[in-house]
Amino acid sequence: MSGLHVAVIMDGNGRWAQARGLPRSAGHLGGVEALRRTVEAAPAHGITTLSVYAFSADNWKRPRAEVDGLLALFRSYMVGERRALCSADVRLSVIGRRDRLGGGLVGDIEATEDATATGGRLHLRLAIDYSARDAIAQAAVSSGIDGPITRERVAARVGSGCGRPAAGSEVDLLIRTGGEQRLSDFLLWECAYAELWFTTVMWPDFDEADLARAIEEFRMRDRRFGGVATT
Ligand code: IPE
Ligand code: IPE
Ligand code: MG
Repeated sequence: MSGLHVAVIMDGNGRWAQARGLPRSAGHLGGVEALRRTVEAAPAHGITTLSVYAFSADNWKRPRAEVDGLLALFRSYMVGERRALCSADVRLSVIGRRDRLGGGLVGDIEATEDATATGGRLHLRLAIDYSARDAIAQAAVSSGIDGPITRERVAARVGSGCGRPAAGSEVDLLIRTGGEQRLSDFLLWECAYAELWFTTVMWPDFDEADLARAIEEFRMRDRRFGGVATT
């Protein structure tokens, strides 16, 4: 059985914090812990690619202080997790635009990508300043597809969105925490046949039992890809 590509919209950090009388930044800190747990648990559940939505291109609309706090958190994640990712044999890639992130963060991202480049157990793709519509639009306007335009060729272009080399493989299962049931511009092309799984659990509370439940339900789904039922 080939490995699963699971995508996660890590939502609900702010509400988790507000419910506890804490600032939203405390929710984002809790979110980093949940990401750590999920990365650690993923391989045992058959996941070989994990794409997680950390910051959308539309999240720039948030108050400056929250945005700055998130960017600082991404820097500390890149530096603080580097060693742990290496020893867990995890390869980290960042997808999305980099030109608006600031040189310090981009440097930290590149250093962590380089340090983890040979990781073979899990490919962790962190989406920062990411928009699926922008990635698709970018692919559409960029020339250079030789020969006929096939889905595979477009997929490779979309996956390399904004000039970054990255696998654009199809998502098997998309998880969204926090109770909302929408995609919020995440991996629109790659989720064409993804199974969708929504939970009201807020992201900082998400743990391995939740992941196990999502995978278990995914395994019971009948994926037909436009064909007919196999059972
Ligand atoms: C998701 O949690 C994290 C980011 C978007 C960066 P939110 O910050 O959206 O939390 P809620 O949805 O407001 O609770
Ligand atoms: C999507 O969550 C982006 C991330 C989880 C990083 P949002 O909280 O920004 O999405 P909306 O605004 O509820 O659609
Ligand atoms: Mg949200």
